[in-house]
Amino acid sequence: MSAKSIYILAIESSCDDTSAAILQNDTVLANVVANQSIHAAYGGVVPELASRAHQQNIVPVVQQALKIAGITKKELNAVAFTRGPGLMGSLLVGTSFAKSLSIALNIPLIAINHMQAHVLAHFIKDDKQAVPEFPFLCLTISGGHTQILRVSDYTEFEILGQTIDDAVGEAFDKSAKLLGLPYPGGPLIDKYAQLGNKKAFTFTEPKTSNELDFSFSGLKTAILYFLQREQKKNPDFIKENLHDICASIQHTIVSILMKRLKLASKQTGIKRIAIAGGVSANSSIRKALKATENTLGFTTYIPKFEYTTDNAAMIGIVGYYKYLKQDFDEENTVATSRLSINE
Ligand code: KG4
Ligand code: ZN
Repeated sequence: MSAKSIYILAIESSCDDTSAAILQNDTVLANVVANQSIHAAYGGVVPELASRAHQQNIVPVVQQALKIAGITKKELNAVAFTRGPGLMGSLLVGTSFAKSLSIALNIPLIAINHMQAHVLAHFIKDDKQAVPEFPFLCLTISGGHTQILRVSDYTEFEILGQTIDDAVGEAFDKSAKLLGLPYPGGPLIDKYAQLGNKKAFTFTEPKTSNELDFSFSGLKTAILYFLQREQKKNPDFIKENLHDICASIQHTIVSILMKRLKLASKQTGIKRIAIAGGVSANSSIRKALKATENTLGFTTYIPKFEYTTDNAAMIGIVGYYKYLKQDFDEENTVATSRLSINE
């Protein structure tokens, strides 16, 4: 690579977080995320409200990122943005903004696959953390996806297993909703689980015909029936047992994830294991993965907290690698709500 620094502005707006980041090569100078608290009142993301909030947030978020990075728009070499998968109205805000900026500044436009970005967040330069060597396995766990991938290169992803129904983030959020917790409930289940007994209640783990696939819809139903049964006996059951219920649910989910991940490692012989996506912020999955270093000789890659849930820094790192290959996109590139990891 030449000694010249490449400055990339990255935009992420696929769901309910508006984010802008500035990267200098593979180093993050700024990563600003505006969360949308408005959805909590509705128990989930309301697409129409999300796109409106993105429209309000996008300019201030980009301005703040430039300010933190200490550079001006004129110094930017390219603008990268999430083209999918995600909510169409939300994606359109980031896409239109990125296109306009690329035209106005006459700099290349780089369209990014959000799911690839979650995985490649591991390549953001960080003095404390090593980047994974290829090939490695990545358990990608978010509000929209649950996959075990064999990652052979920056652009080569093979899906070894995936969910056949709900994503694991949905399993956390829907369970939390049953407990009367606000959206997104995943982080709250994590918080309360740390105070409870994970063996207090047991939930049956679902079976799938492909051993590496996941299924979470049955678990949600099991939790619903369990809560209904217990509340009939004691109307205050949830309130009195919240920590134990959260710990037991989390324990079941983490056990489902870890069993398949270990099996994928056994089948492929790959012992370099990464986790990515919003649910990789979960303290129990982090602990369980770390423990495999001693028990199974895995080398594990756990992303920095700020790069787990949706953020633009992860969009920027993919943008940087695409920039090096001069892999640019045209102004007529369109946002797309459905996009597989390899597109
Ligand atoms: O990757 P992400 O920010 O958005 C998607 O692309 O989906 O993931 C969001 C998901 C939500 O379901 C949220 O509840 C979950 O990640 N999540 C967690 C934790 N932090 C975020 N789930 C469990 N434990 C956490 N600590
Ligand atoms: Zn995501």
